[in-house]
Amino acid sequence: MHPIQMVDLTRQYLRIQQEADAAMREVILNATFINGPAVKKFETELQDFLDCPHVIGCANGTDALQVAMMALDLPPGSEVITPAFSYAALAEVIHLLGHVPVYAEVDPHTFLMDPAGIEALITPRTRVIAPVHLYGQTADMEAILAIAAKHKLFVVEDTAQAIGAMCTFSDESSHAAGTMGHIGTTSFFPSKNLGCYGDGGAVFTRDAALAERIRMICNHGQRKKYTHEIVGLNSRLDSLQAALLSVKLKQLRAYEAARNAVADVYDAAFAQLPGIQVPARRPGSTHVFHQYTLTLRDEAMREAMKKDLAEHQVPTMIYYPTPLHRQQAYYNPVSMPLTEDLCLRVLSLPVHTEMDPDQLQYIIQTVIAFSANYQPQTA
Ligand SMILES: Cc1ncc(COP(=O)(O)O)c(C=O)c1O
Repeated sequence: MHPIQMVDLTRQYLRIQQEADAAMREVILNATFINGPAVKKFETELQDFLDCPHVIGCANGTDALQVAMMALDLPPGSEVITPAFSYAALAEVIHLLGHVPVYAEVDPHTFLMDPAGIEALITPRTRVIAPVHLYGQTADMEAILAIAAKHKLFVVEDTAQAIGAMCTFSDESSHAAGTMGHIGTTSFFPSKNLGCYGDGGAVFTRDAALAERIRMICNHGQRKKYTHEIVGLNSRLDSLQAALLSVKLKQLRAYEAARNAVADVYDAAFAQLPGIQVPARRPGSTHVFHQYTLTLRDEAMREAMKKDLAEHQVPTMIYYPTPLHRQQAYYNPVSMPLTEDLCLRVLSLPVHTEMDPDQLQYIIQTVIAFSANYQPQTA
């Protein structure tokens, strides 16, 4: 059996090696490293894939969020409603730009921002609602967009973990994650579902004026060389990465299917185990299973299971051990019981495109054996 990893990027590469090498070699031979044709080509392909008219590559998913927020040209101190159960990038960007994150609770079953709690957080300073499509499925965008429209707020979607996920509205229209709000962002970090071999990111929008601002911000605020109209950044998607991403984009639906196949087998195997809750699928969204995340009965069980699996060479990860409002850098005394509780109880298992049947069965048998032997601590 191959050693089990959270993701297996080496074996994934070996399956696309010829095409990936050829695409990257072409960039090198043509010496078109910065803003070469490979970048435009990939942006156009991703536009078609997402059915979104504007895709702008940038240096990473955190920059994508920063560029998105800068493009909205918000007054200083604007409040941005965003989930506390998430990765730190969005909170970091909000602080860096002199704005204020206002943390929203998540649904404890889907881990997604709960629209029911949003309106109570809106103040005269609120400008943006920024859902994160955590672990690979979309938040309830129909409800979020309705709240945003009612209060005249922008919506920025963080799609770093959910590229390719589709959200269905009540009129049965279907929309790609990241294309429903004013701006969507993603990361091509290597372990992401559409990951490159270094850093990369992109910003999506349907709005031509916002797209123009985004392009300028990514390019030092220039429309024309050496003419800086607005304060910008240097945030570019590298041509080598773009060439690779064109190759991997063709595989993305197959990658998504492979991840779903693993998730389906996990779901069936773990459904009846005491104290173990499998991830809920939100009706109205497909799931691309960037993460497969269990919720355990309590922290003690989570720690025991993590240790037991590690002893059996099954890696696991905790996304995320500390809620954003309890991080020293972004501290906020507000109490968010659902988020705080999830941080103690979630555990993500390996899910990736290269999982062999024997690896999958080994992980499942290890979890089942742990469950059979685990003695819950009594108070
Ligand atoms: C939800 C989310 N947002 C943003 C990012 C930031 O992406 P990057 O690492 O490319 O800056 C990540 C990356 O892990 C993420 O998971």
